[in-house]
Amino acid sequence: MTDLTGKTALVTGASRGIGRSIAERLAADGALVAVHYGTNEAAANDTVATIQKSGGNAFAVRAELGVDDDVDTLFAGLEEGLDGRPLDILVNNAAIIDYDGTIDKITRAAYDRQFAINVRAPLFITQRALPLMRDGGRIINVSSGVTWFATPEIAYGMTKGALNVFSRSLAQSLGARGITVNTVSPGITETDMNGWLNDPQAAQHVAGMIALGRHGQPADVGDAVAFFASEDARWITGQTLEVNGGLLLGPPTGYAG
Ligand SMILES: NC(=O)c1ccc[n+]([C@@H]2O[C@H](COP(=O)([O-])OP(=O)(O)OC[C@H]3O[C@@H](n4cnc5c(N)ncnc54)[C@H](OP(=O)(O)O)[C@@H]3O)[C@@H](O)[C@H]2O)c1
Repeated sequence: MTDLTGKTALVTGASRGIGRSIAERLAADGALVAVHYGTNEAAANDTVATIQKSGGNAFAVRAELGVDDDVDTLFAGLEEGLDGRPLDILVNNAAIIDYDGTIDKITRAAYDRQFAINVRAPLFITQRALPLMRDGGRIINVSSGVTWFATPEIAYGMTKGALNVFSRSLAQSLGARGITVNTVSPGITETDMNGWLNDPQAAQHVAGMIALGRHGQPADVGDAVAFFASEDARWITGQTLEVNGGLLLGPPTGYAG
């Protein structure tokens, strides 16, 4: 457990899944956490209530990303909740996957929507956050292993590739302020995004590709994000950490079959 007492954090997409786990962990470490969400108010309120029940501090902020004025809406709620305090930690986590976004079916509208939510929003959220951030702050972007293994959902993979480039470039630009920028790249993790994992056969198939023999839980990723948010990670920037249990390391029985 690291000590984030006195720090503040914004976690986008924190109502469910990995973002919720990140928000819970940062709050458990002592940060005041802004739990951002798009539409699922009940889930966001539940995240905030769970944090508060454990003695942590959090507030919910609603803003649909990928639409006009998304950043203005987000920062109106964020600044109200921060009430004059600066921001220390920004986690760009919210994203969507379009399972129809394959090369034969992808449409311009679906492509634009994924890039607007997964790439444009993190860039302009970060731009808007920087004047609020203290020097020595932390930015963590949540990408995906699909940047190095191929999947049919081509546009989603492209958005995450763009996010990786964004992270490295930003790390270079913000070094002078002592702000670190790192990427956490989850493997196959049990969230609403991966409803297909509820099929035991699919889960077993996935486990066979992972050295540690199981798919991920949101907390497996949240704990890694908390490391980058901590003082322990003070001299790490521009890096990507694959948090995936050893996904696709090679054939489990060797190459000879
Ligand atoms: N699950 C995996 O296996 C996996 C693997 C690799 C990478 N990732 C990445 O990990 C991150 C979290 O994924 P997850 O699996 O936890 O997803 P999830 O369970 O689908 O949750 C997505 C979160 O993002 C928010 N969100 C989505 N679209 C939004 C929009 N247009 N405006 C505002 N908020 C929006 C949702 O808010 P609402 O609740 O309001 O809808 C929700 O809080 C994503 O960046 C994803 O690409 C996930």
